[in-house]
Amino acid sequence: MLVAPSVLSADFGNLQRDVEAICSAGCDLVHVDVMDGHFVPNLTIGPVVVSAIAACATKPLDIHLMVENNTFFVDLFAPLKPGYISFHIEEEKHPHRLIQKIRSLGIKPAIVLNPHTPPESIEYLLQDLDMVLLMSVNPGFGGQSFIESVIPKAKKLNEMRKRLNPKCLIEVDGGVSDKNIHILKDCGVDIVVAGSYVFNHVNKEEAIASLKI
Ligand code: DX5
Ligand code: ZN
Repeated sequence: MLVAPSVLSADFGNLQRDVEAICSAGCDLVHVDVMDGHFVPNLTIGPVVVSAIAACATKPLDIHLMVENNTFFVDLFAPLKPGYISFHIEEEKHPHRLIQKIRSLGIKPAIVLNPHTPPESIEYLLQDLDMVLLMSVNPGFGGQSFIESVIPKAKKLNEMRKRLNPKCLIEVDGGVSDKNIHILKDCGVDIVVAGSYVFNHVNKEEAIASLKI
């Protein structure tokens, strides 16, 4: 299992310290939640702060867009050369075009599904994706409870990707901890995002290690 701690739960007064801490504690990706106050009822960070994160991160950024105008934000963040940019299928009229655009910028494209969105909605996009991110909370805030229906959904997506694109990774985001990591592994999940679980732990190395099963 790969682990992507969400910087949303970091101490923003000590952002450099916290980003360096998760990178040296063994994380695989640095998950960055970008919210615009329109697609979700919260507002987080833009390119000024994300470039500060990029400057001190020693692991690739995993940028999760929760915004209305995806293309505008892809253009803003592309110069930072993140590993992945993921956008919500619920908010994109031309997902295939946007996938091509992200890939043409040298970034791995990923699509995010909200808790109510079925995996079948991306059946004809799966072969063009590097990753699918399944939300296991409603997007907008850290520290929420894990929504159990993501379990059968991850199983279904795992079957779909075996058939259509075995290289496409499955990531789960929201309410992840040592309590649900084993069931997620059993469903075929490859990467977990963990915000409050990692940052509330005094020993981040221990927290990340407990998810790397
Ligand atoms: C929610 C974000 C998540 C969040 C996860 O909209 O996408 O990445 O920070 O936080 P936890 O792990 O605390 O649920
Ligand atoms: Zn996220």
